[in-house]
Amino acid sequence: MHPERIRLARLRDKVMSAQDAAALITDGMTVGMSGFTRAGDCKAVPFALAERARQHPLQITLMTGASLGHDADKVLSDAGVTARRMPFQVDASLRKRINAGEVMFLDQHLSETVELLRNKQIAPVDLAVIEATCITEDGAIVPTTSVGNSASFAILAKQVIVEINLSMPLGLEGLHDIYIPTYRPHRQPIPVTAVDERIGSPAIAIDPAKIVGIVFTDRPDSPSTVLPPDTETEAIAGHLNGFLLREVKAGRLSPSLQPLQAGIGTIANAVLHGLLESPFDNLTMYSEVLQDSSIDLLDSGRMAFASASSMTLSKACYERVMANLDFYKSRIVLRPQEISNHPEVVRRLGLITINTALEVDIYGNVNSTHVNGTQMMNGIGGSGDFARNAHMSVFVTKSLAKGGAISSVVPMVTHVDHTEHDVDVIVTEHGLADLRGLAPRERAAAIIGNCVDPSYREQLADYFRAACRRGGHTPHLLEEAFAWHLRQQRTGSMLDKTAQAVAA
Ligand code: COA
Repeated sequence: MHPERIRLARLRDKVMSAQDAAALITDGMTVGMSGFTRAGDCKAVPFALAERARQHPLQITLMTGASLGHDADKVLSDAGVTARRMPFQVDASLRKRINAGEVMFLDQHLSETVELLRNKQIAPVDLAVIEATCITEDGAIVPTTSVGNSASFAILAKQVIVEINLSMPLGLEGLHDIYIPTYRPHRQPIPVTAVDERIGSPAIAIDPAKIVGIVFTDRPDSPSTVLPPDTETEAIAGHLNGFLLREVKAGRLSPSLQPLQAGIGTIANAVLHGLLESPFDNLTMYSEVLQDSSIDLLDSGRMAFASASSMTLSKACYERVMANLDFYKSRIVLRPQEISNHPEVVRRLGLITINTALEVDIYGNVNSTHVNGTQMMNGIGGSGDFARNAHMSVFVTKSLAKGGAISSVVPMVTHVDHTEHDVDVIVTEHGLADLRGLAPRERAAAIIGNCVDPSYREQLADYFRAACRRGGHTPHLLEEAFAWHLRQQRTGSMLDKTAQAVAA
């Protein structure tokens, strides 16, 4: 029965199988599940639900913190369970259904979902399924490796199922800081004034009577899928770290920089790894996800403290953290994603934010979500929460995709997630464009001069020169602005081979 995991004795008779818990979910419900970038997701109920739906079809609206591990999004969407999904996903199978118009996907800023729920602007959560380390004497839920939206889902839902994961050490208690903003119109300032400040409580306080089922599991989180740094990501890290060093020398940043935010993924991980060899110290993070690189920086002593909403780690790093929780609990705090990503706090702390673009255009607009302006990749995630409010908003991308058939620097992006107004610095493996204080024509010169792959540089310079001849504050040739994307669809490559042949 694990009394140390269910410390409120009267809840112990709520223990049930995953199948019985899944039976509490009925057709048409809105279900809020824990899980943020593969961390702290539910390991049993989603799979029992999919199994049931294969016999007796049903559909739900599924909300989470962000992406799920263990292929849960694939299993649920393949079983036809997911009718509507928010606010983020990274699963290839679900992505296919979203792009076929079969699943309605709401691509939201990660800080906003629970605000919309709280203000009744989207359908209420009927039932929450939350992974926990344990339930306290008061019936409060201690999360595991992520907080995400779990606190507000549990508070706002009519019923709550708790998945207690026995593979999660009890020592996780004390890692989390649960703070729920006061309701409008009497909202008070969120009192985070330093990354290591704790402003809430260590567990999610709810009325224990709402807990209708408790399921035991013992699967660890899915390990991170981040690839090791390669030549290009190392070059990007080198350009960015060199730039930050110059900012310190110029007196615009201190040697501990400003609190860092880095998006999940290979490039962001490589950039943070690059800081291990840097002269900066006493670094801090105020981010949404901690990756291996953040843990390595804490271990090296180069980083003093890291605040986030989840930890998404490789197997080896995960085991290291779980075995040394006392060390990490004095250096890490996990918060609800609305606080880790809150525009008010991001602006107050003055973050250096590092996020990844699919494509950028010559004026600094960034597309992070839509291939060819139509096909959803993952979603905007937290990148907008951070970029819009940053002290310095950096976007990184490799200059080429698909073996060089695609230039990530184009005349005009086919979808805008981050406007030119929210983008300060763009970095590719070829160099860095510092766009601060530049007008559109100056930005174009910096981006073309520093960031484009040489195979596309002349082609992009030609476009810009022709656009400037026509004039405008932000010169464009509207009839040619998407010609590169159309050429790639038609010929398989954005390269204008005819123009190159004529030039030769
Ligand atoms: N056109 C078409 N496809 C492109 C492309 C472009 N301009 N640029 C990259 N891609 C493809 C890559 O080829 C790759 O495809 P594959 O999966 O078939 O190999 C895929 O996009 C991912 O690109 P990759 O270079 O491996 O980078 P990544 O894994 O770091 O992902 C984003 C890049 C933009 C998709 C990802 O960072 C993202 O979803 N960002 C938005 C959310 C976010 O920023 N969150 C931040 C807070 S966590």
